[in-house]
Order: sequence, then C-alpha cells, then structure tokens
Amino acid sequence: MNTALVFGGSGQIGAALLARLRAEGWQVLALSRTQRADGPGLRWLRGGFPQPPGLPEQVDAIFSCGPLDAFAQWYAQAGIRSARVVAFGSTSVHVKHASADAGERDVARRLREAEAALFATAEARGEVAIVLRPTLVYGVGRDATLTRIARLARRFGRFVLPRAAAGRRQPVHVDDLADAALAACRSAAAAARGYDLPGGETLAYAEMVRRMLACLSPSPQLHLLPMPLFRMLLVAARTGGIARDLTGDAIARMRDDLVFDAGPAARDFGYAPRVFAPTAAMFGTAQASSGAP
Ligand SMILES: NC(=O)c1ccc[n+]([C@@H]2O[C@H](COP(=O)([O-])OP(=O)(O)OC[C@H]3O[C@@H](n4cnc5c(N)ncnc54)[C@H](OP(=O)(O)O)[C@@H]3O)[C@@H](O)[C@H]2O)c1
Repeated sequence: MNTALVFGGSGQIGAALLARLRAEGWQVLALSRTQRADGPGLRWLRGGFPQPPGLPEQVDAIFSCGPLDAFAQWYAQAGIRSARVVAFGSTSVHVKHASADAGERDVARRLREAEAALFATAEARGEVAIVLRPTLVYGVGRDATLTRIARLARRFGRFVLPRAAAGRRQPVHVDDLADAALAACRSAAAAARGYDLPGGETLAYAEMVRRMLACLSPSPQLHLLPMPLFRMLLVAARTGGIARDLTGDAIARMRDDLVFDAGPAARDFGYAPRVFAPTAAMFGTAQASSGAP
C-alpha cells in the first residue's frame, strides 16, 4: 500500500487529488491549519508551515497543493524521505516577471526561487521533484477568476469587459490537474523539471467569459466596451466596493495571449486535459464532482 503526504489537501486542486488517492487505495496523511474529520484512508494533521507536526520518517510520495514557496522552504530542512515530490507552482512564473506591478513581479520571483530550491534539495537527496504549473484554474466553484465573474454577472444580470479582451486563455479543470499530479508521480518518464499545464482548448478571453455566462440560467449578457468607457465604469464599480483588486496590469493582460505548451506533460505522463465545456455547477456554490473538503 502506498503512503502519501499532502499539503493543501483542503484546496480546490488538493480536494480533487485526495479523492483520487483514496479511491486508488493510498493511505493519505494531509496537513491543514484547520481541524478536519478523518475518513477511510485519510488522516488529517492539524498544522502548517514552517513546522508541520507529527510527520513520519518516510512516505512514497509528497504532494504540495498549497503555497510553493513555503513548501520549498520546509522541504529544504525536512527530515522526511520521499522518492517522489510533486508540487504545484504556477504559469505566473512566466507571466508576471515583467509586470509593471511590483507585487506581481514579487510573486514571479518567489515562484522561480521556490522551484529552484525544490529541485536543488531533491537532487541533493537523490529524490525526484516535479513542478506542475497550471494556467487559469476552474471547475468546482472555488477559483478566483471565472467563479468570481459568474457571481458578479449573476448579481447584476450582465457583465462588462473591454473590447480589447481578446488575449488567448487556456482554462484548466481541477480534475485534470489532480489526474496530472498522480500521473506525474507514477511516470518514470516524468523528470525533475517544471511542466506547464494549460487546459485542452485555447480561446479568446471574451469568448471564454461568453461561454461561461451562456451556461448560467438565466444567462447574463456580456457587453464589450471601448477601453475608456470600461475604465470609467471600473472607477464607479470600485467606489461601490467591486473589483478593487483588478489592477491596471490585469486589465492590460486581457489583450495578451497567455498560451503554454502541454507537449512535455503529454509526452512524459500522458497529460490530456479536457476542452472548455462549462456547466453552471462549475461556478456555483454547489459541490462538484471532486467534492469539497
Ligand atoms: N487557482 C489558480 O488559478 C491557480 C493557478 C495556477 C497555479 N495555482 C497553484 O496551485 C496550487 C493549488 O491551488 P488551489 O487554487 O487549489 O489553492 P487553494 O484552493 O487556495 O488552496 C490551497 C490550500 O493550501 C493551504 N494553504 C494556504 N496557505 C497556506 C499557508 N500559508 N500555510 C499552509 N497551508 C496553506 C490551505 O490549506 P488549509 O487552509 O487547510 O491549511 C489551502 O486549502 C497553489 O500552489 C497555487 O498557487 C493555482
């Protein structure tokens, strides 16, 4: 029987991964800062970084579905042995390093340094660390982009975007990411490197939002506005406490293609993500297939 240690198992990707590990008969030890109920094949430890409590000396695999920088720091000084370490990072490492926003540049720097530290630690120990970098995540109504747009659109019966929101996106479902984590863990061909994990379809930002809105009932209308009008509306929205964290860089990025190559992941562990075929349940408060914790 295989044993796994999972960080971030209460998150949207982590919950989908826990379900798969348990279904396949793994014994799972999962960390959470919140008290959670154990179940068959699953034991929760309450705690977090930098010093998770009560860990065994060895497991078959460690999965990180929480903050990569805190995980990499912990792993560098942890005594626990594990032949495989699979950790989620983000394609933000590619996207945000040149942002005009200092906070976004810092995110990219921390991700880059965490990846490098993780690979260095694993190599020194003779273990294999694999970093999986999702693009824009959706699927169980817990993401901060599409689900948030769906909530706003439901509230107002409509949604607005700048007409220039034509940059291409590759939304990726949490279940495909959980499958990828298990496949990467098992595959002998998966190397100590980072793998970008885009979704299975590339579409323009506005088309992605339009398709998502179309699956809601009633279906909110999408209005594409000239940029100056969009900005004016945004100022008014912010005054009302809406979209306060939508930065100028985030708006500018709606024009940019954020497109990544799934080829290495497909080649090394058979990554084959689904196309973007949204349903209302993926953006609601209802629980979806993976099950919330
Ligand atoms: N969401 C996206 O669009 C997206 C895109 C690209 C990459 N990613 C990456 O994919 C991974 C998983 O993302 P997710 O969206 O599934 O995450 P999530 O839903 O936000 O959950 C992450 C989990 O990590 C744990 N966690 C958070 N901060 C922590 C801390 N300071 N110390 C210890 N544990 C902490 C939390 O568990 P407890 O509260 O139970 O302790 C939380 O449930 C992350 O590395 C994220 O950066 C996400």
